[in-house]
Amino acid sequence: MLIKIPRGWELPESAATPEAAYWNRRTLMKGLAAGTILAAAGLPSTRALAAKGSDAPADDPSAKLYPFKKNEAFRLDRALTDPEVNATYNNFYEFGSHKEIWKDAQKLPIRPWMVTIDGLVEKKIEIAIDDLLAKMPLEERLYRHRCVEAWAMAIPWSGFPLKALVELAKPASAAKFVVMETFMNPKVAPGQKQFWYPWPYVDGLTIEEATNDLAFIATGAYGRPMAKQHGSPLRLAVPWKYGFKHVKSIVRFSFADKQPKTFWQTIQPQEYGFWANVNPDVSHPRWSQKTERLLGSGDRVPTQLYNGYGEFVAALYAGREKEPLFK
Ligand code: MTE
Repeated sequence: MLIKIPRGWELPESAATPEAAYWNRRTLMKGLAAGTILAAAGLPSTRALAAKGSDAPADDPSAKLYPFKKNEAFRLDRALTDPEVNATYNNFYEFGSHKEIWKDAQKLPIRPWMVTIDGLVEKKIEIAIDDLLAKMPLEERLYRHRCVEAWAMAIPWSGFPLKALVELAKPASAAKFVVMETFMNPKVAPGQKQFWYPWPYVDGLTIEEATNDLAFIATGAYGRPMAKQHGSPLRLAVPWKYGFKHVKSIVRFSFADKQPKTFWQTIQPQEYGFWANVNPDVSHPRWSQKTERLLGSGDRVPTQLYNGYGEFVAALYAGREKEPLFK
């Protein structure tokens, strides 16, 4: 007889999170629209959220598509992060090297937004974001998010599996990597005038990683288009890797036969590598990775290998043990 043992992230949130912290999604969506849930939970109203820039961008016509259907295979063992906390503590160096970039990020124009898919593909594709959304299987997933700086969140992302975009691209067999690139527009993103950074922000995955079930392109969060500071209109979400792999506001997916040199690798190769898989036993050169601080509650919890997603991804690294998989 086959006995299915639920994996860590398959626990229903109701079993894994305190009752008070569990938000029923239907009620959440209705309540978010009415502005009642956040107020009832002691969280700011949608008006206050809009003022804080954590509401969906007003210039995002995809709002009508939300909320997406939840994929029940991806669940959490912890409470979702308060959306305001999530929206006011960000890394987006294009808008500054501090955590309060949310206000400046509102200047990012997100329409028109063209996405280029090129390199070792059957045919170069240039597609507008709304046409891309129309082609992709849209869904919602609850993911943990672990920054290399040892803070963590839990986010209900909306978007589509990166695998679906790889299928659309039809890469040649010589393509071994997917390279993702952020927009370049120093007029709205003053950080890009800082010449000592290797703009545009670039990172990448192997094709095997990109087609793994967990690799996700997020277009929304909390059941609506995501706030600009998260990297709207599309950003990567690979929850088994440190946050710096999660390229924001992507304009280009390029298929390559060589491992790309990433933004952080170029700046600080001793500290940041290509793989960046989460591992509590491999310290950052300047701090331990044993535990993480949950934004919102401030609780410290143990960090897990591959951020707890080993059953999905550990096999990707068989035979690569000699590579620096955890920085
Ligand atoms: N993408 C771009 N284009 N620019 C950035 O500075 N910062 C990265 C990543 N993606 C960054 C980026 C880092 S260091 C982290 S931890 C995450 O975005 C933060 O994502 P969040 O602000 O949505 O939590």
